[in-house]
Amino acid sequence: MAGEREADVTAAAFDRAAVDFSRLSPLLWDPVGAATVAVSAPAAGERVLDACCGDGASAIPAARRVGGTGAVDAVDLSGPMVGLLRERAAGLPQLTAHQADVTSWPGTGYDVVQCVLGAFFFPDMAAGTDHLVGRVRPGGRVAVTIWHRDAMVAAGRAIAGAAAAERGERAQVPRASSAVQQLGDPDAFGAWLTARGLEQVAVSVAAHAVEATEEALWLLVLGSGFRGLLTELDDAAVDRVRGRYLEQLVGGPAIDATTLVGFGQRPD
Ligand SMILES: C[S@@+](CC[C@H](N)C(=O)[O-])C[C@H]1O[C@@H](n2cnc3c(N)ncnc32)[C@H](O)[C@@H]1O
Repeated sequence: MAGEREADVTAAAFDRAAVDFSRLSPLLWDPVGAATVAVSAPAAGERVLDACCGDGASAIPAARRVGGTGAVDAVDLSGPMVGLLRERAAGLPQLTAHQADVTSWPGTGYDVVQCVLGAFFFPDMAAGTDHLVGRVRPGGRVAVTIWHRDAMVAAGRAIAGAAAAERGERAQVPRASSAVQQLGDPDAFGAWLTARGLEQVAVSVAAHAVEATEEALWLLVLGSGFRGLLTELDDAAVDRVRGRYLEQLVGGPAIDATTLVGFGQRPD
């Protein structure tokens, strides 16, 4: 099945990135997760499904908010990510981390379903999101967060150019995934969420930026999907790519990491 193969590829990429992904969390993933939870607003005692949970950027604050009388199911394809989340969630017994494909997650009746920076990895983003909307109870809340169209552009351009130069290829300006290109502004994303059958749809712009220091910029590559551009390069080649990439960005403007937090309610 094509969908299953794609899921394997996605899981393998995040398995490899997991440790660096986690080091990047305080700079990037955790603030983005917190911005989403501020919108989905889980309350004490509620049940939450955190889809594509990674190492817990939104699942952990959700678990704190629901408290001991609530429950959070956090679901991710990647075993290492789930392992890191279990470590971070020690002391939060209301959070259960599961390694599974959330596009076939069977649980239903959640008060809140949230999915941060994950939906565009689904082989069919609309069908996968429709499945998530079906997990929430009538009247429940859904929050889906994606990159703003302008986010990460400078870093993407720099790392793609540096990697292409190393491989002797023509530098290609990377485009955000086609989903982000299509949906990465509030109006387009709001219309798309409305087409998912949600009501009271609202999209907020969550501004965030990552400082252009050497350490942060390199973590942005190693701890994200950009890491794939280094595949099959040996250590010396990676070092040269690193140098070319950093010289373009260090000390310059902070890297734009703005997201769109989409919110809607399932009709009663
Ligand atoms: C960019 S990370 C975001 C993680 C986390 N939500 C955060 O904001 O830090 C995307 C995550 O989605 C997961 N993922 C992608 N497709 C998935 C699927 N079909 N089911 C479960 N997890 C999935 C990946 O394994 C990865 O951990």
